[in-house]
Amino acid sequence: MRFIILCLLLVSLVIAPQAAFADKANTIDEAAAAYNSEKCKECHDDIHKAWSSSWHSKSIVDPRTLKTFRTFILSGADKLPGVKRSILRDMCLICHAPAAAAASDELAEKISGLVVTAADDKDAAKRDAATKELSKLNINCLSCHGGKAVGPGSQIEPNKIYGPGKGEPPHKDAIGYDTVKLPSMKTSEFCAPCHHGCPPGMSSKECPTQWTVYQEHYLAHGGKQTCQDCHMSGEGGASHSFPGIYEKDFAKTAVELSLDAQPTRHFYQLTNKVVPAVVMNVQLKNIGAHDIPHG
Ligand code: HEC
Ligand code: HEC
Ligand code: HEC
Ligand code: HEC
Ligand code: HEC
Repeated sequence: MRFIILCLLLVSLVIAPQAAFADKANTIDEAAAAYNSEKCKECHDDIHKAWSSSWHSKSIVDPRTLKTFRTFILSGADKLPGVKRSILRDMCLICHAPAAAAASDELAEKISGLVVTAADDKDAAKRDAATKELSKLNINCLSCHGGKAVGPGSQIEPNKIYGPGKGEPPHKDAIGYDTVKLPSMKTSEFCAPCHHGCPPGMSSKECPTQWTVYQEHYLAHGGKQTCQDCHMSGEGGASHSFPGIYEKDFAKTAVELSLDAQPTRHFYQLTNKVVPAVVMNVQLKNIGAHDIPHG
């Protein structure tokens, strides 16, 4: 976490000026409108369910994230002279809530206020209402499928759905959206803008993100799979639940454990008695694409 904040301090210097050109929205509904993914669920019910169970669908309101944002606002922005609460938009929400990039300074400050309310308010009803409002900004279908690039500084394009090039979607007739083939959706580069965040040229030693570690410790040693191969493999199509370190069965696939136990006896010197014992030889091998532990 510490490294995230540290390297993002650097990143935001690179990215913030671009975000400044986005159209300004004055309410959360306005900011979220272009990303409205309600219609997608009507036909892509399974994908919608999988997305709902993913961390992407909670990218502001996941309690770990929400509380960290709260601390960033109260112990960071509020304590530093000349720093406004809208800094949350420029430094954190650029990845965690792409829709918030369009927020005016006033709205960005209001969003930060809602974060503090959602995390800290004594009244549970107020916490729930603030969380519900913020949830409109979580990463959703169009955060990834709405433009030819995703992540910091990228812009959503109206009425377009970018996809890997699968099937013959009825989008135009059903909802008036054009479908555009984007082959890079199948590559690891697609995930990098959000899952990297370091200025170019930094190594995994200085900035150990999923991207740098994947390049230097996995690809460089012969690893062949993409982020999608491991994180989106599903029956019949791309899975959108994006399991990670918190999903035990998935996390297990990153380690190979071999255990060799030999029974023996031990003379316990304080009592002069023979006690049964085992000699264990444990080998833990990282066969995944990341450092363990990470994050
Ligand atoms: C009227 C039904 C319908 C609606 C509404 C709909 N889709 Fe689709 N979509 C389909 C069908 C059918 C396909 C083709 C088969 C498949 O891949 O499931 C498809 C395919 C896709 C693809 C793959 C296209 C490609 O070229 O790779 C993406 C991405 C996609 N939809 C995203 C969305 C998003 C995002 C929304 C909401 C903005 C949405 N869809 C709304 C029916 C729909
Ligand atoms: C460059 C994109 C990017 C920016 C900017 C960014 N984050 Fe994140 N953040 C991510 C991604 C991707 C993850 C999920 C992967 C992970 O956990 O490493 C994440 C995860 C987190 C988590 C959960 C970590 C855990 O596993 O417990 C917290 C908390 C967090 N970010 C807080 C922040 C804060 C606070 C800021 C602003 C100072 C910020 N992030 C800025 C991309 C970003
Ligand atoms: C974090 C980014 C991300 C989010 C959020 C996301 N998708 Fe995807 N989606 C992808 C990527 C990447 C692929 C291509 C995967 C591949 O082909 O390897 C994809 C593939 C698809 C496909 C192609 C069909 C298939 O089974 O391969 C459809 C349809 C689709 N997404 C619909 C949706 C819908 C609907 C939502 C919202 C409920 C959604 N996606 C949310 C990244 C995302
Ligand atoms: C728009 C930015 C964005 C894009 C694009 C994106 N992610 Fe994420 N991803 C995030 C953020 C932010 C989080 C952390 C959500 C939270 O706060 O819990 C996250 C969480 C995750 C997690 C769960 C992390 C954990 O702690 O276990 C996985 C796995 C993941 N992403 C994989 C991917 C893969 C693979 C791709 C590319 C196909 C991708 N993501 C594309 C922003 C993004
Ligand atoms: C060989 C399969 C494999 C590949 C390739 C892979 N991952 Fe992972 N990833 C895993 C496994 C397994 C875990 C859980 C255990 C761990 O952390 O190693 C994980 C954990 C994660 C997490 C959550 C834990 C953390 O480190 O914060 C994120 C986010 C993530 N991967 C994103 C990515 C992205 C982005 C890429 C591509 C640049 C990628 N992964 C490539 C298998 C893979």
